Amino acid sequence: MTLDQLGKSVSEQFAKAYGRPPRWLAAAPGRVNVIGEHTDYNDGFVLPMAIERYTVIAAAPSSPDSKKVRIQSSVGDAPVSIDLGHPLKPAKKGTWYNYPRGVLAGFVARGMMPAGFDALIHSTVPLGGGLSSSAALEVSTATLLEAITGKTLEPVEKALLCQKAEHEYAGMPCGIMDQFISVMGRQDHLLLLDCRSRKTELVPMTDSSVELLITNTNVKHELTGGEYAKRRAQCEEAARALGVASLRDVEADTLERARSKMDPVAYRRARHVVGEIERTLHAAEGVRASNWPTVGQLMYASHASLRDDYEVSCPELDAVVEIALSIGPKGGVYGCRMTGGGFGGCTVALVQAEKVGAISERLAAEYEKKTKIKPTLFTSRPAAGATVLKAG
Ligand code: GLA
Repeated sequence: MTLDQLGKSVSEQFAKAYGRPPRWLAAAPGRVNVIGEHTDYNDGFVLPMAIERYTVIAAAPSSPDSKKVRIQSSVGDAPVSIDLGHPLKPAKKGTWYNYPRGVLAGFVARGMMPAGFDALIHSTVPLGGGLSSSAALEVSTATLLEAITGKTLEPVEKALLCQKAEHEYAGMPCGIMDQFISVMGRQDHLLLLDCRSRKTELVPMTDSSVELLITNTNVKHELTGGEYAKRRAQCEEAARALGVASLRDVEADTLERARSKMDPVAYRRARHVVGEIERTLHAAEGVRASNWPTVGQLMYASHASLRDDYEVSCPELDAVVEIALSIGPKGGVYGCRMTGGGFGGCTVALVQAEKVGAISERLAAEYEKKTKIKPTLFTSRPAAGATVLKAG
């Protein structure tokens, strides 16, 4: 389904739910991170792309002078009501509407107060799959609020507003990658983001002989559970022990020299981050040169480091990567790794486009045999970032 078709279908769902057509329609994509994992909150580099999976929100004004926002999701939960006449606060932890609530709060704080409206949200980004369903929800809400208020934010400010919503309303101390790519994705490009300077470079990926194949292990990942925050704290501790502002400032040989004085866990966490930042820059060079075997090797190395040093993988993610390795370059697989925060969710594999059918079948069959879980597989071209669609 194209994005326009998806928008049309969400408009129809809105009309069914509220008895009138929407006036505004906004969409924001999920993402897959090709490489650069757990580097964003260490001021490092990341290389994600937006995927052709979106959160779409349709909305229309409610009665004149109303300060009420009604939001409903297409999965059929009861509509949620937010009163803009009162100061906004986070709702109960773990509720999905904390994301739009936090974004609304960010707009209100900037004096961009919308009048009351009714909204319906529909998402094709798998939830809890490590493909940034949360960022897609935040960024689509922000894009909708820009359309409603008629005022736009600078892309960096918009991404940071959404990140703040996630920190303060969802209690997840995420970095900046997911919101940046959902705002700034460009068709046929990866985004090389320097998370320290926030400078971005679009890296073209137009070679149609390769594709990125995403495998959802269908093991749900839960990042608000504490392990993510723990990793973040361990990195900060390692940076303190090394006497630097962040792990971005550490060279591999400096880290080796300091090893004996460091806590062994902090050392391994730091080794992952330092190595991953280097791998990400090499991979961006590899993509620019269409050097797929090199990019693939870097992806495997990234996975091994996330599994052994950073300890954020799980047996199901490892199983997909092992199967990918056993298919190998002869079978059309250049590389594979877990993607996103970890502890479940998805892998991303770089594969030869002409072999993607056979690779998918083999991955799915062998994964199910090993784990007794049915995976979900799909490919995506690098997609564009958030956008306002024509409503109605
Ligand atoms: C989650 C966070 C991101 C990033 C990744 C790991 O997706 O939201 O900010 O830290 O994990 O790379």
